[in-house]
Amino acid sequence: MDVVIRNVSKVYRGGVKALDGVSLSVGKGMFGLLGPNGAGKSTLLRLVATLDTPTAGQVTVGGLDCRKHPGEVRRRLGYLPQAFAAFRRLTALEFLDYVGLLKGLDNPRRGREIGELVEQVGLARAARARIGTFSGGMLQRLGIAQALLGSPPLLIVDEPTAGLDPEERVRFRNLLADLGQDRTVVLSTHIVADVERACGDLALLFEGRVAFQGPPLTLAERASGRVWEVATDREGYERVRLSHQVVASRAAADGGFLLRVVGDKTPPGEVRAATPTVEDGYLATIRSAAVDCVSKAAAF
Ligand SMILES: Nc1ncnc2c1ncn2[C@@H]1O[C@H](COP(=O)(O)OP(=O)(O)OP(=O)(O)O)[C@@H](O)[C@H]1O
Ligand SMILES: [Mg+2]
Repeated sequence: MDVVIRNVSKVYRGGVKALDGVSLSVGKGMFGLLGPNGAGKSTLLRLVATLDTPTAGQVTVGGLDCRKHPGEVRRRLGYLPQAFAAFRRLTALEFLDYVGLLKGLDNPRRGREIGELVEQVGLARAARARIGTFSGGMLQRLGIAQALLGSPPLLIVDEPTAGLDPEERVRFRNLLADLGQDRTVVLSTHIVADVERACGDLALLFEGRVAFQGPPLTLAERASGRVWEVATDREGYERVRLSHQVVASRAAADGGFLLRVVGDKTPPGEVRAATPTVEDGYLATIRSAAVDCVSKAAAF
């Protein structure tokens, strides 16, 4: 189910411009949406989920305009919001039955799908427990199950792994990757590793604009020639920090520091060029976009 976003802007009441001329094309498989806090990720996902409308531009899902055909688009998508909360006193089965009813699923299809879904997301044993007793990971699994009811070809998930422990995060990521084999999954996250491991294509949003779209490895290449390992003392560390982004710092045996830094120029000191990772590409791209913003503001 293709999602096409054409020149979309969103200005909230009060004047915040959350999106500014965003164009993206999303096909089958898993698509990652990265960006710092406030970049506009949730806003964009809400527009695709037909929960809000753009101030300018157009969003289509499977060729259907979200503004003109919100009902039809809604029937084709499942959505897990950033702050998913479910009725604490209901059991997982009761909650899913309720959501299934809202989605217009008749029995026996509703019962059958719910049974299959709790198995698929690994909640079968907890299906009759009250939601109020669930851990964060279990709650996110329930969130995915409710989004998947009705087998929508498009799944939109907004930061589903925030707050999960590493093991549960990887399990959840694998579940999403499985789901992405025969549908479109749009995943927003701060966790670069999740996108790197699971998504064939990604977009990086910064201050409401697309700073990058492409495969994770191409993002890593953005930092090519801009990543170094530096051996330095405390004074050198303070100097490098002013001109470069320190990605990692480790105390060395000689009392100094081993740093990994991203920047535009070779840093001073004992340096060695490093192979960029996707996280380096993310940081280098954000850095360039931030510099662009500052120089545009200065020219203005
Ligand atoms: N309902 C709203 N009314 C006014 N401003 C809003 C509203 N929702 C979001 N914003 C603003 O729009 C901008 C983008 O917010 P959004 O929630 O889309 O970012 P995000 O990338 O999802 O951030 P995070 O990573 O923190 O979830 C922010 O400046 C935010 O304060
Ligand atoms: Mg958000």
